[in-house]
Amino acid sequence: MTDQEALLQATELCKRYQRGGGAFAARGARNTFAAVDRVSLRIAAGETFAIVGESGCGKTTLARMLLRLIEPDSGKIIFAGRELTALSSAELRRARRHLQMVFQDPYASLNPRMRVSQIVAEPLEIHEPALSRAERQERALAMLRRVGLNDEFATRYPHEFSGGQRQRIGIARALILRPRLVVADEPVSALDVSVGAQMLALLRELQQEFGLTYLLISHSLPVVAQVATRIAVMRAGAFVEVGDAEQVLRQPQHAYTKELLAAVPELPQVTA
Ligand SMILES: Nc1ncnc2c1ncn2[C@@H]1O[C@H](COP(=O)(O)OP(=O)(O)OP(=O)(O)O)[C@@H](O)[C@H]1O
Ligand SMILES: [Mg+2]
Repeated sequence: MTDQEALLQATELCKRYQRGGGAFAARGARNTFAAVDRVSLRIAAGETFAIVGESGCGKTTLARMLLRLIEPDSGKIIFAGRELTALSSAELRRARRHLQMVFQDPYASLNPRMRVSQIVAEPLEIHEPALSRAERQERALAMLRRVGLNDEFATRYPHEFSGGQRQRIGIARALILRPRLVVADEPVSALDVSVGAQMLALLRELQQEFGLTYLLISHSLPVVAQVATRIAVMRAGAFVEVGDAEQVLRQPQHAYTKELLAAVPELPQVTA
């Protein structure tokens, strides 16, 4: 793959859902709406591509389609030169190790009955069955240390951790397979601002260290401004503006982007 090629490329992705419920829940195209409406994007290796937009604009639906956790109604997705939308389910399972997700609510995504080291080691059981139990455990401990949790935490259960620590566990689990792309859907919105800022700093360090590409989803421009290299502004299922972070934040072109920016008293320095 050359530098010019995108790591992830999506073309005209669409997803429609039934509107509401009750009396209007009858079937038919008129009773559906486009949660994602012809979205195209290109994410280059090493960048942090952020999607920002208000609640309900379709961010999560889009992210889940990009990983084929939800089937698109139409459109095409190419990851590392392979068309994800054309893979069989067995091929997709193998490809998944390169595409990992970090969730908004780490607690809901961690099995409460498993010790933290098991939670982090679990993806290795599935994708690297040749490893011994001891090797899996050692890799899990090393990854936990890397995200700031030393060995004494490894035998504990998720409920014993703070929100920020749980997010670190979620990140360790996402990174244990050394993915190429990490999709983080509102990774800091459940955290205090200062804990969230630490988490974003950690994500940035890990990006350098492991050569990661990020797709970051957030409703918050200040969060996006801390880490994005490129920003897509999403509204009602579609991108209204896409550009370099600096450009979108300092010289927004679209009225909706200007509106979002006006609602934020001050933005942190753009680091990209
Ligand atoms: N499985 C589903 N069935 C029907 N409608 C859905 C489904 N999933 C999402 N929607 C609707 O699609 C729209 C987009 O939802 P989505 O969760 O993608 O938005 P979002 O931008 O991630 O919002 P938030 O910031 O609140 O997480 C919303 O109107 C939502 O109610
Ligand atoms: Mg969402």
